[in-house]
Amino acid sequence: MINEERYFKILIIGDTGVGKSCVMVRFTEETFNETYISTIGVDFKVRTVEVNSQPVKLQIWDTAGQERFKTITRNYYKGSQGILMVYDVTNSKSFENIKNWSKEVDKFSNNSFCKYLVGNKCDLQEKRRITYGMGEKLANELGIKFFESSAKTNKNIDEIFNSIAIDID
Ligand code: GTP
Ligand code: MG
Repeated sequence: MINEERYFKILIIGDTGVGKSCVMVRFTEETFNETYISTIGVDFKVRTVEVNSQPVKLQIWDTAGQERFKTITRNYYKGSQGILMVYDVTNSKSFENIKNWSKEVDKFSNNSFCKYLVGNKCDLQEKRRITYGMGEKLANELGIKFFESSAKTNKNIDEIFNSIAIDID
């Protein structure tokens, strides 16, 4: 039976500027914008995908990375089935902070969901500080799946959301 009302809620978290909004917009609208407009609070967009031959609405929740919004964004952890923890491969601080984001998630969410680690901006090879191996190692330590992505070139964006939708199903 086809149930068109099925939807999965996927939350995107991580430091300010790592490209969370761009990842959401690339996936839901197939566009990319170089201009940086920092997110205020929380926003969501929807795209329907097929999971095991059934349509599922993916509700992608994009959160503000700025410290001052943390108490607001925390409220959105609980209802999510999937969480993407994003860092920027050119920004070491954003990578080091993943451990803190992971703790936040464990504290403020129900534990029955899929967590992924995503190293975004992998198109910026000459500015890269975090190697693929470093990301992979951290993901292994946390016991979660790992992808590198580029919202700019569309590298792995569909793959990430399709994979997490299958894992949630
Ligand atoms: P906050 O809303 O402040 O938490 O930031 P954010 O994580 O949503 O970052 P945003 O998506 O707004 O992107 C920040 C900047 O990085 C923008 O100037 C984007 O154009 C740029 N950017 C995002 N993704 C990529 C990418 O994959 N490659 C490159 N080269 N630039 C990117
Ligand atoms: Mg944003």
